Parts: sequence; structure tokens; C-alpha cells
Amino acid sequence: MDKIRVVGGNPLAGRVEISGAKNAALPAMAASLLTADTIQLENVPYVRDILTSRKLLQEMGAEAEVRDDGTAILKAADIHSREAPYELVKTMRAAILVLGPLVGRFKKARVSLPGGCAIGARPVNLHLMGLEQMGAKCEVVHGYVEASTEGLHGARILMDTVTVTGTENLMMAATLADGETVLDNAACEPEVSDLAGLLRGMGAQIEGDGSRTIRIQGVRELRGCRHRIIPDRVEAGTFAVAAAITRGDVEIVNCCPQHLTAVLTQLAQTGAEISVEPNSLRVRGKDPIVSKSMTTHPYPAFPTDMQAQYMALMTQGDGSAVITETIFENRFMHALEMIRMGADITIDGRQALVKGRKPLTGAKVLASDLRASASLILAGLVAKGETWVDRVYHLDRGYCRIEDKLARLGANIERVS
Ligand code: UD1
Repeated sequence: MDKIRVVGGNPLAGRVEISGAKNAALPAMAASLLTADTIQLENVPYVRDILTSRKLLQEMGAEAEVRDDGTAILKAADIHSREAPYELVKTMRAAILVLGPLVGRFKKARVSLPGGCAIGARPVNLHLMGLEQMGAKCEVVHGYVEASTEGLHGARILMDTVTVTGTENLMMAATLADGETVLDNAACEPEVSDLAGLLRGMGAQIEGDGSRTIRIQGVRELRGCRHRIIPDRVEAGTFAVAAAITRGDVEIVNCCPQHLTAVLTQLAQTGAEISVEPNSLRVRGKDPIVSKSMTTHPYPAFPTDMQAQYMALMTQGDGSAVITETIFENRFMHALEMIRMGADITIDGRQALVKGRKPLTGAKVLASDLRASASLILAGLVAKGETWVDRVYHLDRGYCRIEDKLARLGANIERVS
């Protein structure tokens, strides 16, 4: 199994290109199930979750090609299976995204329940509640959600928690429902709007995406189209922290700084110098790194997917910071590994007290999830000596050759097979 070896100490400098957003590409691939026509996607990141999604579509009978130049060509003309098996869902929770499209177009779906994962319980009750309100019957049998309907109809659906994939699943199902669906307390993440843009390109009638209320007027059928996936804001944010933590100077191109407002505002408060252009940004790390508390919330606030990376930065702060995680109940696993590298972090429920001014030392560490892996690499970039990050398959789920990109910026980092 691959490992990443990092030797800390080099300030990063240069230019890095950001890939397409995994979390926008995954629902876009699922949306291809809504039509028999061809969907062509561009700027799709060539990462493990995308290949898992390709496999899922292919097992259902779809033609699905994903190229490493960022193009994906998907055609769900001949779907013979309406099932997402446990073996695939357990490696990628986002497989639940096929539920809405399958029920919407084929009136039937069988999708494995994702179960627990390293960062918390992550239920899908709101996905099922919404589909039921639209006229589907959802039962859990042998670990699978079995959903069926005579035909979906519009409904007013209030989600009591903001859920990203829940909003996406219901928005996709509603595109082919009879009448109007209103999603209240919807997620406003840029990935939701990107999906809405794709669906509109396919002929769907959707308004209000990017706000807490989304209105979808069902249509009889959808057609093929071409769509370009937005840049990955979490990857861009990770490189921004890499620049700040190493006191480097990095230009981050092909990104959308507008999607990173909360992250960049927070980084600026820690002392980093940030300049923003429409499609790029430059981050210059400064000494000292100022310790600043932070709380995660749904978009547009600071994202949970950047919490671990921010924690790595705060281990190098000039004082103390409290990091509060409000989205997932168990998302501090990386802290335990950072402590093994010499960080001073105390966890109390959903809060972590991070005391700075502690020099880190390289160690063998285990990544528990995708963003945790990235945060341990960030810690490794400033640790004395060698850090070995194990279970790199987590990293490969969502980052496109991060070690090559960091090496080009001057990091002493390599993948060891
Ligand atoms: C998506 C992202 C993930 C990110 C997360 C939060 C994708 C593929 N993944 O995950 O990277 O960390 O948003 O920004 O886009 N919840 C319920 N019931 C439900 C659904 C969710 O209670 O039916 C709760 C969850 O337990 C969690 C919160 O809602 O506490 C937010 O989860 P959600 O937005 O659904 O996360 P995902 O869509 O799985």
C-alpha cells in the first residue's frame, strides 16, 4: 500500500493549478442517469471517487468513460440494474446520489445504506423523507434502501438540517416529478449550484439554487448537454494553508476565490497576505501565524472539509485557538495524529483547543479520512524530519496527485509504493 513521505522545512513557492471539484463532479455523474442522451463533463478530477462512480454507472449498464484530461462522457441509455451495491457504497458514501435520479427516471432504486464512517454517523434520513413526500415508498431491507413509486409528484420539503447530497438528490429527483417541488433550508454550497446549472443545461427548470429555497418545476424528460465542473475549493483551500503554514508564497490558479471567502478571511486573520483575482489567488505566509478560533458551518461559512487543514495551521500559531466542529460529531481523528507529532491539542466534544508555539517532529501517522490525510501532510511540511502518512488511499479519493503538486512548489515529498 502506498505511503507519502514528507520531510518538513521547505517554504513553498510557485504556482499550482487546481483541479475540478470532486464534490461537484460526483452529483454531475449521477445526474447523467436522468437522461438517455449523452452528458459530456469537463474539468472532472481524475481521483479515486470519480473512478468508483464510473464503475457504479457501468455496473448499471451506462456507458461511462473518464479520461485523465478531465473529460467524462456518460450515456445512460440502456440501464439494466437500478442498484448501488454495498461494496461500492462502503468505499464512497456519495454513491447515495444515484438514488434520486433512479427513482425520478425509472421509478425504482435499490441503494445500499452507507452506514457509519470515520467522521460520524452520516444518516440519509432526509434524502428518504424528501422522496417519500414526493410520493416514493422507501423501505430499508437487508441494509438496502428500496425505493419505488408510481410516479413522483412535486412537494414542499423542509430539511431540518442542511444536507449537501440530500439537497442534490432531491433536486435531481424533482426535475422529472409532476409539478413543483420546493426545497426549504436547502444547502447553498457552490457544488449544489453547479449541479443546478448542469440540470438546467439538460432542460430542467430550477430557480433559487445558491439560496436556502430551491424551486424545481418538473419536466417530462431531460436531454444531453456539455458542462464544465467548477474548480475544487477544498483543494485550493488546502494549498492556501500549505502556503501559510510554510511561510511560503504560492499562486493558486484555475480556482474560484469567490467560493473561498470564509477560508480566505480566516487565513487573513491569521496573518497570511492574500491577494485575489477572479480566477486565481496568491497567498504569502507570514511570521507569526496568529492563533484565531474558528467554527465550521454550512456554506457560505467556514467548511468542515477545511477544518483539519486549519487545525494543522493552528498548531503553529502564536497562542491558543478553539476549533469548533458543528457539522460532523467525530471529525477530530487527525488531532490525535498531530499530537503524536508534538502538537498540543485538547479535545472536548465538538471543540478542540489548539495551543501553538509547539515545534512538530515527523512521525509515522495514519490518515482516517480524506481531509485528515491532507492535514497530516500539511503538518509534515513544517515538522522536523520525516513524516510518513499511511493509508494514502483516503487521499487518493479526492486529491489529484497532491504530492506532485506540492513537490513542484518545492516540498520535499514523495509517494512510496
Ligand atoms: C457533503 C460533502 C462532504 C462535506 C459535507 C458537509 C459530497 C460528496 N460530500 O457530504 O465532503 O463534508 O457535505 O459539507 O458533496 N444529515 C442528516 N440526515 C441526512 C443527511 C445529513 O442528519 O439525511 C446530517 C449529517 O449527519 C451531518 C450534516 O447533516 O451532520 C451535513 O451532512 P451532509 O451535508 O449531508 O454531508 P454529505 O452530503 O454526506
